[in-house]
Order: sequence, then C-alpha cells, then structure tokens
Amino acid sequence: MSAEPLEIHLEEQDLDRALREDVRVGLTASPKWLPPKWFYDARGSELFEEITRLPEYYPTRAERAALAAHADDVAAMTGAKTLIELGSGSSEKTRLLLDAFTRQGGLGTFVPLDVSVSALRSSTERIAAAYPGLRVRGIVGDFTRHLDRLPTGGRRLVAFLGGTIGNLLPAERAGFLAATRAALEAGDWLLVGTDLVKDPGVVVPAYDDAAGVTAEFNRNVLRVVNRELGADFDVEAFRHVAVWDPEREWIEMRLRAERPTRVRVAALGLDVAFAAGEELRTEVSAKFRPAGIAAELAGAGFVRQAFWTDPDGLFGVSLARAD
Ligand code: AVJ
Repeated sequence: MSAEPLEIHLEEQDLDRALREDVRVGLTASPKWLPPKWFYDARGSELFEEITRLPEYYPTRAERAALAAHADDVAAMTGAKTLIELGSGSSEKTRLLLDAFTRQGGLGTFVPLDVSVSALRSSTERIAAAYPGLRVRGIVGDFTRHLDRLPTGGRRLVAFLGGTIGNLLPAERAGFLAATRAALEAGDWLLVGTDLVKDPGVVVPAYDDAAGVTAEFNRNVLRVVNRELGADFDVEAFRHVAVWDPEREWIEMRLRAERPTRVRVAALGLDVAFAAGEELRTEVSAKFRPAGIAAELAGAGFVRQAFWTDPDGLFGVSLARAD
C-alpha cells in the first residue's frame, strides 16, 4: 500500500509565524534563547541523523537496543490497533515496533506526526513500501500544539521516542503529558523514551563530539534564522558549548559569541547585540531517573506498566497505560 497524502495541520505560514514569534521573544530575552525545534530544516535533520551515528552519541543505539529486546512485549501488552508516533523524524527505530506488531498481527494503522514535511514524505513512503497492508497516515503537525488532531477509535499506542521529551522544559513537559492524556482514552497506551542520568563524563561528549558534528547542528539554527527571516548572523562568530547542569540534571547547548557581534533580523525589524562571551541557549536535553519518570507519568494520569533499559542502563523506555 502506498502512503496516504500527508495531512497538513501546519502550513508554511503557521511555521513562519511561529518562528518569528520564537525569534522575537528569544532574542530579546535575557539570557537569550531559541527553541530546539528550529534546528530541523533539511540540513539540520541530516546533521541529526549523522549525530545518531557518532561514537560519542549513545542514546540512539541504547534506545534501539532496549526496543529490540522489548518490542514484542510492547505489541503483546498493548494489543494496539493504531500506532501514533510523535516527532517521528525518520521513524527508523519505529520499525522495531512495526516488525513486532507485524509478527503479532492486529496493527492496522501507523500515524507518524512531525513538523518536517521532508522527513515525513520520505519516511511515510519507505514505511508504506516495507509494510504492505499497513495504513500509513502522515500528519504534518507540532506535538506541542496538535495533539487534539490525533485519530480516534481502536486501541491506540502513542510513541514518543529518542528522548525528545527531554527537550521540553519541566512545565512544558507536564503540559505535554497532560495534553497527550487528554487526547487518549482510558486503556490507550504511551511509550516514551528517556535518556537516563549518568556520569557527566559520558553525557557531555555525546553533546560535544570530537568531529564537531553537534557544533554544526547547533550553529545550523542561525542559518535557519538567516534564511527564513533575512537575518545576518555571522555564524562563524559563535562557538558551540555543551554544559551539564547538575541541579536540574540536564545538558544545555548554547552558542557563545566569541567577540562582540550584532545581528539584524530583517523580517522583524530587529537589531540585537551580543557582548563578547554572551551565550544563546539553543537546547535543553534533560536526563531522567526511573522513579521521576513514573511520577511525572502518574501526575498526568498514566500508570507505568513496564520500564526497560539497554544492557548498559544508559537509556530507559517506559510503557504506561492511560488510567
Ligand atoms: C532530539 C532528543 C534526540 O536531546 O539528545 C542531539 C537532540 N541535540 N544532539 C537530544 C540532540 C544534540 C536529541 N533528541
């Protein structure tokens, strides 16, 4: 079966409006910041795929190991008819789930949701070709805004993989989990991947690799703003920084102005100055403790039924039922 046409809940102009608002708010704040979702244009998505193959970047391999070992448990425990994947990107690891559901039988529909049209086009075509008989309905949308558009009917499993939930700030995370619960009915399921707290000596290099791929990925957000909003960031004036915050147990990626620099954002009529050494926060990537995840799930109306990790205990996958 070929993939159905993408369902668009996010038009070009919605994205443009959201980017303008985020850049206006973030660059006029103190300290300055930008949300991580703007990394992922076509080039940023490629750089991210490259990151997942770096020797230092353990989360993707660790999550894949946990899913490979327990995908059949997910299929058996949930008996889902519809699998919805939020922030699906390439849907590469999701194949482990689709394979397990294929072995078990019963899954009828796969619904990947992502902000990236380019990523969805290729992933939906590839998945549809590889899983004949599976209905593939891609949705172009933002998982922080369009959870009320999820398909209804039949036992549903929502998968949120990759540790992407860690890119939300704690209040956003609580809002996201509550909205996910509100979109589901009692008896539906949530599968969520979380990177786990560990030695910063392991975490920091994962976000500051020797080959400099993460640095390019980080700086790519400036290129996106330059192209989309007619800005003139001097990209080479900014250095990639990754720091571990031991209190909040998260990694922060920042871009540090190496010298005083100014940027004009033409589309906003905005001029912004950076002092030498001033930092722009571009991403938070939270790391979790097993009990903390269960508590956050419970706070949103989910009851965790299983928690699996890779053999090295680097990454956790929680399967929770809507109560
Ligand atoms: C999108 C959550 C998988 O936070 O680890 C990778 C993005 N940022 N390297 C993460 C990312 C820097 C990533 N996830």
